Amino acid sequence: MPTPKDLTFRVRKVRPSEVPLLAWFRVPMSHEIARFEGRPTTIPSPREMREYERWIRREMRRGRLVGFFAVGEEGLPVAAGFVWVQEVAAAPGVTPHWRPRIQSMYTLPCFRGRGAATKILDASIAWAKERGFSRISLRPSPLAGRVYTRRGFEAVPELHLDLSKGPAGRPSSRRKGKGKPAQRAGRSASRSRRHPR
Ligand SMILES: CC(C)(COP(=O)(O)OP(=O)(O)OC[C@H]1O[C@@H](n2cnc3c(N)ncnc32)[C@H](O)[C@@H]1OP(=O)(O)O)[C@@H](O)C(=O)NCCC(=O)NCCS
Repeated sequence: MPTPKDLTFRVRKVRPSEVPLLAWFRVPMSHEIARFEGRPTTIPSPREMREYERWIRREMRRGRLVGFFAVGEEGLPVAAGFVWVQEVAAAPGVTPHWRPRIQSMYTLPCFRGRGAATKILDASIAWAKERGFSRISLRPSPLAGRVYTRRGFEAVPELHLDLSKGPAGRPSSRRKGKGKPAQRAGRSASRSRRHPR
């Protein structure tokens, strides 16, 4: 019986029939990161999971999302991640274009430190290069260690403002509207605070 230490992995693409499994990998990932950051975490409802799976399937059909599993000898996934191609705004002299993002990287805890995530990262980079993209981005979690920087990823400055708190010096409680914009748009404020990873 091989132990996790003896195992080696190969990477393969996620098949459309495996979307629920790819979606499931997101649950422990979000949970672990939230716990590390001291944020509350909940288990998604079956309805939320179905919506997430629907989104993945739609983006796969449009050719904008490709998922990868790192699998052991028996073919069972031990790690997952996907590349999502996102539109980047036009600017004067710049036509709108597309940029791949790596998202939802997760390795089951007992298989970590064996290169599974690095193999998914390499497959994602190769996929993007083959399609002629000149850049690939991601938002690292505080648990990612050197997985990305070892492959040459560099931080670029980007600022975020938590809109539920409002701009500094102007508390959002002073606003005399009918609820916060995220609520008026039919989405919960807590959901709108989550950033892609
Ligand atoms: C971040 C995460 C995906 C990394 O997964 P992993 O499969 O352990 O990653 P790797 O094995 O490729 O690399 C991790 C470490 O193992 C080492 N390693 C890589 N290949 C190895 C191999 N063949 N044998 C032994 N160790 C290896 C690497 O040097 C790396 O060490 P360092 O980062 O401390 O320098 C995983 O820890 C995880 O799921 N964390 C929680 C969720 C999360 O934060 N996801 C990232 C979202 S951006």
